[in-house]
Amino acid sequence: MSAPSHLSSSPAWKALQAHYETLRDVHMRGLFAADPQRFEHFSLTLDGLLLDYSKNRVTDETLKLLFDLAREREVEALRERMFAGEHINLTEDRAVLHVALRNRSNRPILDGAEDVMPAVNAVLGRMRTFVEAVQSGAWKGYSGKRITDVVNIGIGGSHLGPEMVCHALTPYGHPHINVHFVSNVDGTDIRETFRKVDPESVLFVVASKTFTTQETLTNAHTAREWLLDYHEDETAVARHFVAVSTNADGVREFGIDTEHMFGFWDWVGGRYSLWSAVGLSIALYIGMDAFEELLAGAHLMDEHFRSAPLERNMPVILALLGVWYINFFGAQTQAILPYDQYLNRFAAYFQQGDMESNGKHVDREGADVDYATGPVVWGEPGTNGQHAFYQLIHQGTRLIPCDFIAPAVSHNPVGEHHAILLSNFFAQPEALMRGRTLEEVLDELLAQGLDAETAQRLAPHKVMQGNRPSNALLLREITPRSLGTLIALYEHKIFVQGAIWNINSFDQWGVELGKQLAKVILPELADDAPITSHDSSTNGLINYYKRLR
Ligand code: F6P
Repeated sequence: MSAPSHLSSSPAWKALQAHYETLRDVHMRGLFAADPQRFEHFSLTLDGLLLDYSKNRVTDETLKLLFDLAREREVEALRERMFAGEHINLTEDRAVLHVALRNRSNRPILDGAEDVMPAVNAVLGRMRTFVEAVQSGAWKGYSGKRITDVVNIGIGGSHLGPEMVCHALTPYGHPHINVHFVSNVDGTDIRETFRKVDPESVLFVVASKTFTTQETLTNAHTAREWLLDYHEDETAVARHFVAVSTNADGVREFGIDTEHMFGFWDWVGGRYSLWSAVGLSIALYIGMDAFEELLAGAHLMDEHFRSAPLERNMPVILALLGVWYINFFGAQTQAILPYDQYLNRFAAYFQQGDMESNGKHVDREGADVDYATGPVVWGEPGTNGQHAFYQLIHQGTRLIPCDFIAPAVSHNPVGEHHAILLSNFFAQPEALMRGRTLEEVLDELLAQGLDAETAQRLAPHKVMQGNRPSNALLLREITPRSLGTLIALYEHKIFVQGAIWNINSFDQWGVELGKQLAKVILPELADDAPITSHDSSTNGLINYYKRLR
């Protein structure tokens, strides 16, 4: 067992702990009453994106102490080291340069002695040529038909980003190109996709950073067989398959000509890769101009993150508020609640983004931490969530910080729909903050004509403590640019939290053991012989399965 990381004994941490004792019972109602300008004090905007963080259990003093913590933990220095291409991903000895992928200023960004920008721009150029050929119909399938369906085969970072963005930007999608995603090794995923596409007009984009991922390669091989069953000619593969990877040998071995491969680099983490060629399926769907707008939106947030003082820095503020709840209030989860149907994969995307990045129990030096790190991230679009799990957020025993996200303008203005949606977006944070006191409940029940005894009996069930924190993010419209800004905001929030917790947000060793064990088990499933080599539970499960199948 290694020595605990010293974060929790640092002066800023201790000051926050002492401050927490003075603030833990303070109600936000009182904070709002005491400062009529609270919204103005605790909100900021960037390129039309408003962050209202006034409905948090914080005062000026809290924020000052949190900024002290960020300075003490040298967040700014680590940020500079990231932008400078230092190998801050220590366990893999890699730079962390997804910011270079969207560096629209094109200023040099170095990995070692090498400026990565020429290579980044070259891949973007190749993507543009290919995307334009597919979208215009110049790129033909084997039998001469134009491409109507793009199927992205990839998992984790090679799936969730492209899927989330394509979904979010549906209104920008090409009128004659559909996009599909196959990630799960469950044969149902690919079989169901085959039913929707035509082998004459489909394009498979096999996206895998390593090109060794079992799920992706299994799905890609199945897609290849399906295609060749139809065309009965190996040369058809070249017209219907392209690859996105850092592993040219793996791509070649699979049978895709590297001429049809779009590369990226080991300094792009899988869960930060949608900005790279992993975004090819996005670009095929929305076009290269819109894809570059997405990059531009993210670049805008990068510049803000890099240059704004901590006190006016959106990702820093979001991160520090998270630390406040996770480490001092004991919050274990973070809900992301977009009031926009097109953002229905946003929480799922940041489930990987956050949990794979900050789900770590040792610090950068390998010592066990004695404080909580990354939260469980979850969420669903409003208003669906309101009719499912909000009850617990409002009246349960756990503190669940929530981020509410909404566009002011809908891509689908239908009657009163958007006003109704947004009335809920405004009401929920208000309800969480205000709650409803016993007196208010009693008054309401008596006004409804209930007798005093019934009112007293019912009232405790209807009381809402309130004082439940949330952030609200309001933007004009979901566009490629505003979406890019929003995604980069959360990426940098994750970065800042990782910096404060002194963990490496850029590796993911925790996913390896399960993969290794599955490789041991797979051959054991080949016949009906009973298995005895594992613990009794694993043996029991495998043997029961063998009897059932
Ligand atoms: O699940 C682990 C992981 O390595 C993720 O980090 C990554 O996004 C995913 O697998 C897919 O990896 P690849 O792009 O190499 O297929």
